[in-house]
Amino acid sequence: MKDISELLGCKYPIIQGAMGVISNPEFVAAVSEAGGYGLLATAFDSDPAKLKDRVDRVKAFTEKPFGANLMAIHPKAFEFADILVEAGVKAVTTSGGSPKALVPYLKERGIKVLHVVSNVSNAVKAASAGVDAVIAEGSESGGMQGFNGASTMVLTPMVVDAVDVPVVAAGGIGDRRGYQAAFVLGAVGAQIGTAFIAAEECIAHANYKNALISASESDTRLMNVEWAQFRVVSTPVAEEMVTKGGLSKSEFSAQGASIEETWVHGDLEAGTIPAGQSTGMIKAIRPVREIIEDMVRDS
Ligand SMILES: Cc1cc2nc3c(=O)[nH]c(=O)nc-3n(C[C@H](O)[C@H](O)[C@H](O)COP(=O)(O)O)c2cc1C
Repeated sequence: MKDISELLGCKYPIIQGAMGVISNPEFVAAVSEAGGYGLLATAFDSDPAKLKDRVDRVKAFTEKPFGANLMAIHPKAFEFADILVEAGVKAVTTSGGSPKALVPYLKERGIKVLHVVSNVSNAVKAASAGVDAVIAEGSESGGMQGFNGASTMVLTPMVVDAVDVPVVAAGGIGDRRGYQAAFVLGAVGAQIGTAFIAAEECIAHANYKNALISASESDTRLMNVEWAQFRVVSTPVAEEMVTKGGLSKSEFSAQGASIEETWVHGDLEAGTIPAGQSTGMIKAIRPVREIIEDMVRDS
């Protein structure tokens, strides 16, 4: 395989990591139009009909391939999968739990599966469950992650050595140098989250984008939520939560309810804004095509 674009059917081996409400249809389509592989998110969804609407909206904006992220532990993961099958989606990512049950279901229906892992042991388990590729996500990444994760620099080559399926690197990839490093580490593609939030087409509020532009590489925090950690920008709200030891399950659910208010409407007092350490590299809001083309250019 030349790189992961062959499996995904897109121009460049770049996946836009799913990011809740901010990976909305217009943004997913813009990424795919620019040659990447756009992904809708389903983690915070409860209604399959709403996913169908969003899939239809992406299709109204682009004929290029796109996919979605399925959370393995989500009670509606199989219903969401049916919507994606019906829409002709060719590849999805899975995360948040073992993909063992979802993999045969998706593959029997012609969908390729790339599973996100944060350690070697889960990569090996995913490969033996039959995934087509794994995404090795290092601890510098934005959003949810397990405890004691290794950085992308350590995790990627270790996962490459441990599995016989293609590996995509994720976490901390913010420019052409990080993108090229992913290939040197043995990956055949890159999944990017944080750097795309600052895209012009991204629905994230200007307050969110400007917080990313202002933040240095040291301005993110890992916040505990019982079963996981979240890497978020160090805002006053985040510092308060980290200082008190993180969030309980119910506090986390309350945060979930404020996501739209914080991420899309820009009320940074209502909740936290996830981002990875590559936020330190973001200097401007740019069209997603420019972000992608800057990454893939030869020199
Ligand atoms: C705001 C936000 C929301 C995210 N939501 C999800 C999600 O729903 N599912 C998932 O698999 N990954 C999620 N991620 C992780 C990204 O898809 C991606 O793997 C990660 O951001 C890559 O690291 P980077 O931020 O350093 O580029 C999220 C990341 C961010 C920043």
